[in-house]
Amino acid sequence: MAVKSIRDVVIKGKRVFFRFDFNVPLDDAGNVKDDTRIRRALPTIRYAIDQGARSILASHLGRPKGERKPEMSLRPVALKLGALIGQEVRFVDDCIGPAVREAVSALPDGGILLLENLRFHAGETKNDPEFARELASLVDVYVNDAFGTAHRAHASTEGIARYVKDKAAGFLMKEELDSLARALSNPEKPVVAIFGGAKVSDKLEALKNLITRMDTILIGGGMANTFLRAQGHPVGRSAVEEDLIGTAADVLTAANAKGCSLLLPVDVVAGSAIAAGARTGPVDAAAVPENDMALDVGPKTSELFGKEIARAGTIVWNGPMGVFEIQDFAEGTKAVAEAVAAAKGYSVVGGGDTIRAVTQFGVADRISYISTGGGAFMEFMEGKTLPGVAALDS
Ligand code: 3PG
Repeated sequence: MAVKSIRDVVIKGKRVFFRFDFNVPLDDAGNVKDDTRIRRALPTIRYAIDQGARSILASHLGRPKGERKPEMSLRPVALKLGALIGQEVRFVDDCIGPAVREAVSALPDGGILLLENLRFHAGETKNDPEFARELASLVDVYVNDAFGTAHRAHASTEGIARYVKDKAAGFLMKEELDSLARALSNPEKPVVAIFGGAKVSDKLEALKNLITRMDTILIGGGMANTFLRAQGHPVGRSAVEEDLIGTAADVLTAANAKGCSLLLPVDVVAGSAIAAGARTGPVDAAAVPENDMALDVGPKTSELFGKEIARAGTIVWNGPMGVFEIQDFAEGTKAVAEAVAAAKGYSVVGGGDTIRAVTQFGVADRISYISTGGGAFMEFMEGKTLPGVAALDS
């Protein structure tokens, strides 16, 4: 796919529509709680300022479903961004219409204007051509730097690209695509994927794709229970996706046939409830007491997984090994986080819970690449073409 970089298009003095993923958490007072996604957009924004572009920034926040919801306004993002770049960030409380046109035409070279939440208009998620054309009519150039939203075919991520001739990816989008391609398209071997989290259903398509590409897949977290059941083991009261037991068995068989070694926990930390103090201790994965649940991988599993991670040339990780928010069930995720951080191989981590885990365990700065994508990261793992990337193909 021939996706241009922002460096390949002329933006000096031009009105440039920048799609970012500023879908950030806000606290009760309405302030930005975690500014990671804003910080990751800064290289593109600083470049635009240096080049003297007239930057029109747009994003969604939350899922307001076509309604104007004050608690999902992007105004707090304008304040945070202004503080981070040390320059005024103008804000206009809509993303189309006369007030927006006025604000755009008043924008000087090097100026920054943030539009209000795109999803206050139903046309955004519907990818309505009229809405996309209105957005496009504001600008001369389109730059998409919202990797986190690239799996959505929405007006600002896909439709708009049909109506703007000059289009390109921002620095973050490029970096994400290059990093994920390094891990998946031409990886240094052996390649190890680590999957965790509650549900098999969330990861099934990625698993099906990755058994053809990975040398080893390590499975922990709640999703491992469905696989353990597929192997005929009782798992006590652990959450199991009963309807997917057969599919899990098929994945195990397919992995075997493709020469991908798919490893499940050999022991787990059981608990009587998902609560502090409810830990009943590590047990063999095949011997979870009837009234307990598997809430973390056990120490033998951490050791087994750690060895695979240490010898990997490339590591991809999505999903925690247990309920790491509760200290009693955090050790498995901590051990994997530390193993990934200590590994010599190239490591890529994605997904909100996994990022929280590497941050909580103080190893984030030793991961080779942390993706800003949640759903987009998973769809990339599934081998899908992301509409927001395909739209930039010129
Ligand atoms: C995300 O946070 O994963 C992206 O911003 C996409 O948000 P969405 O799932 O509401 O489309």
